[in-house]
Amino acid sequence: MFLADSGSVAVEVALKLAVQFQTALGHPQRQRLLSIRGGYHGDTFAAMGVCDPVDGMHSAFPGLLAGNVFGPRPPAAAAATPETVRAWASDLGDIAAAHSGELAAIIVEPVLQGAGGMHAYPAECLTALRHVADRHGLLLIFDEIATGFGRTGELFAADHAGVVPDIMCVGKALTGGYLTLAAMLCTAEIASAVSGGQAGALLHGPRLWATRWRVRLPTRASASSATAPGGPTSPGSARASNRGSPRPGP
Ligand SMILES: Cc1ncc(COP(=O)(O)O)c(C=O)c1O
Repeated sequence: MFLADSGSVAVEVALKLAVQFQTALGHPQRQRLLSIRGGYHGDTFAAMGVCDPVDGMHSAFPGLLAGNVFGPRPPAAAAATPETVRAWASDLGDIAAAHSGELAAIIVEPVLQGAGGMHAYPAECLTALRHVADRHGLLLIFDEIATGFGRTGELFAADHAGVVPDIMCVGKALTGGYLTLAAMLCTAEIASAVSGGQAGALLHGPRLWATRWRVRLPTRASASSATAPGGPTSPGSARASNRGSPRPGP
């Protein structure tokens, strides 16, 4: 878990982690992201780079935004049929296949695209995204900054489909709006791979924040337990996992 001071920074960190994970696995060329049209993920540069390329202000910063890959917007929940969901999933699968060698991850707002126009889409699309990600070796990132903590009727929007992402971003309802706070969470597999990679840690901010706490990615089953399985690692092990990192600590 990495605590961040805004949702945008949580997304930045999620994208960095995905790229570092691919590098640690021997795929340093996987530097781009696959997103869908109509999304909103924040206003910092990497986050803006996965927002909708037309409505997301990309034209104002052509030299600063990474060239990511965008799939079509999923069909609206109110009008979707199994056929339209299948056709959308097939299009997305084709796009992922065409770019798989250069993609690190897929990032979407699950079930509800909020700031990009309040577009609700069927939970079956999340299942399709999970399959596409698995088929092409991509991480699946769910940006639950707007949807997390019950805002779509389930604790997390991912729960509508029973899909578990590899990386999740949360914010907003994390503090009920009282404080600006967000977090990026990932699976133990990703944390271990990145810690064991050449950099030795997530390359963002004080490394202790990224390495000290080990928690299980919240699912409906695990979120009911407030205590993180395994708990915090010892300060000694946090220091050990910082060894070899190129940047000084806090
Ligand atoms: C889905 C989503 N991701 C990221 C963000 C960015 O969060 P922040 O404004 O805290 O940087 C927002 C903000 O509305 C959001 O709705």
